Amino acid sequence: MAEGQRPEIEWRDGGVPVATRFDDPYFSLGDGLAETRHVFLAGNDLPGRFRPGFHIAELGFGTGLNMLAALIAWRGADVGGALRYTSFEAFPMAPGDVATALDAFPEARAVAEPFLEAWARGDRRFAIDGIEVEVILGDARATLPGWGGQADAWFLDGFSPAKNPELWGAELMAEVARHTAPGGSAATYTAAGFVRRGLAAAGFAVERRPGFGRKRHMTVARLEHSG
Ligand SMILES: C[S@@+](CC[C@H](N)C(=O)[O-])C[C@H]1O[C@@H](n2cnc3c(N)ncnc32)[C@H](O)[C@@H]1O
Repeated sequence: MAEGQRPEIEWRDGGVPVATRFDDPYFSLGDGLAETRHVFLAGNDLPGRFRPGFHIAELGFGTGLNMLAALIAWRGADVGGALRYTSFEAFPMAPGDVATALDAFPEARAVAEPFLEAWARGDRRFAIDGIEVEVILGDARATLPGWGGQADAWFLDGFSPAKNPELWGAELMAEVARHTAPGGSAATYTAAGFVRRGLAAAGFAVERRPGFGRKRHMTVARLEHSG
């Protein structure tokens, strides 16, 4: 598949990558790894729900930090086999930028080498110890409808809804629901009303939970079991 357009990155506050096109950071200016754990892992009740064959999907692969946090959690949970991780990304970061970004998180960086090697080779589908990753390139609004998978947990991690509204629209949330296994879940750092309404309209039971750091609220969504 054709490589997407590379994002133009600016480094702010001593090492936080910011996508110029969206004027928004890839992770929080504070502790991005702790935020990932709070929002995406705990928000999806992970690692408690991990079981063999568990499948995470993500909107916005970015630096791969969320993927590495999930891998660390999976290894710690000792479920066996491989976690499946599918991520949708329109603007894949240059390998050098990914490595520089991850340098800010020694714990993630310590397990990142096989991923960085695969990414530098241009692999968008790779298996490393404990995880099978596929990054689907292109605008998620175009690629998700044709995806054949269903995730047990979604990480909704576009740039802020104000700056990247195309990754949070009601139609895309309906596609997220359509690609969620019964009883599956989604979590995001935002509590924006239009995102919560889109998730509810798509059939999720939507709940607000305390956000990370200075963010008051975040959103978790659970798809009710359907017969
Ligand atoms: C906040 S960053 C994701 C951070 C990432 N999860 C991580 O662990 O580093 C948002 C990502 O969404 C991607 N993105 C923005 N619009 C998109 C679209 N329409 N389709 C797919 N990806 C998109 C951006 O290129 C960026 O990588």
